Amino acid sequence: MTDDTAPERAKRMARDYFFPTPVYRTDLARAEELNVRLVADIRAWRERDPGGTFRSNVPQLGGWHSPTDMHLRLEFTELTTEIFELIHGVFTDQGYDDAWEPVCDSMWANVNPRGAFNRHHTHPHALWSGVYYVRTPDDCGLLCLTDPRPQAHVITPYFDSRRRSAHTWAEAYYQPVAGRLVAFPAWLVHSTHPNMARAGSGATEAQAGARDGTTGDVHAEGAQEGALADERISVSFNFRQRRRGIDPADAPSNEVVRADLLAR
Ligand SMILES: [Fe+2]
Repeated sequence: MTDDTAPERAKRMARDYFFPTPVYRTDLARAEELNVRLVADIRAWRERDPGGTFRSNVPQLGGWHSPTDMHLRLEFTELTTEIFELIHGVFTDQGYDDAWEPVCDSMWANVNPRGAFNRHHTHPHALWSGVYYVRTPDDCGLLCLTDPRPQAHVITPYFDSRRRSAHTWAEAYYQPVAGRLVAFPAWLVHSTHPNMARAGSGATEAQAGARDGTTGDVHAEGAQEGALADERISVSFNFRQRRRGIDPADAPSNEVVRADLLAR
C-alpha cells in the first residue's frame, strides 16, 4: 500500500504563508494601580466634557469617545510612555528603519456602558493602532478583528472544524482583560461587541425602586453606582513613522515622539 493519497501528497508540499496580519499583545506590570488612577481621570474628563467626540462609538447608547488629544494630557503620561515603549518594540520587531521613529498623533478613551459598542472601522492616516483595557467587567464586549482581504470572503470553504487552524479564520476575537494591550495594523478592520456586563445587577432593585418613586436618594445613588459598575473603559491610540531629527517647531502640534515625553 502506498501513501500516494491526496493528503499525503499535500504533506510533502512546502507551504508558505504570505501577507500575514501581525497582532501583538502584552499585560502591563503595575496595571492594577495604574488603572485605578486611569478610571478616575477618564471619568473626570467625561464629567468635564460629556459630549466627547463621535467616531466609532454610538452616543445614542451612551458610548462616550473622548477627544483624541489624550497623549498631550499630562495626567495620562504614564500610560502614554508605556504605549510608546511597546510600539517602539513593534517597530523594531517589524524591521522598520531606525531612521524613522514612532510618532503618536492621537490617543483617546472609550467608555461603553451596558448595551454600547463600537462599529467596525479602521484608523486612517496611521500605521499601527491598538487598545489598552482599563476596566473590563465580565461580558463587556469582545474585540473583533476581521480578515482584511475582501477577496478572501468571496468563497468561504467548508471546513472540518476539528482540523481548522487560526490561519484560516475570517474573524478573530480577543477577550478584553484589564491591564492588557493589543496592537494591530491600523488598516485592520475591527469592532467591539456590545457590552452585556451585569456587574451592576445588584443595583437592579435600587433602580426599580427609584423608578416607582417609593425610594429616596440612597437608592438613586445605588442605581448610579450600578451603571458605573457595568462600564467598560479602554484607551486607543494611533502611531505612524516620522523621520528622526525633525525640528519640533516644524512638526504638527498634535504629534508626540518619545523625546517629547521625556522632556515633560
Ligand atoms: Fe479602533
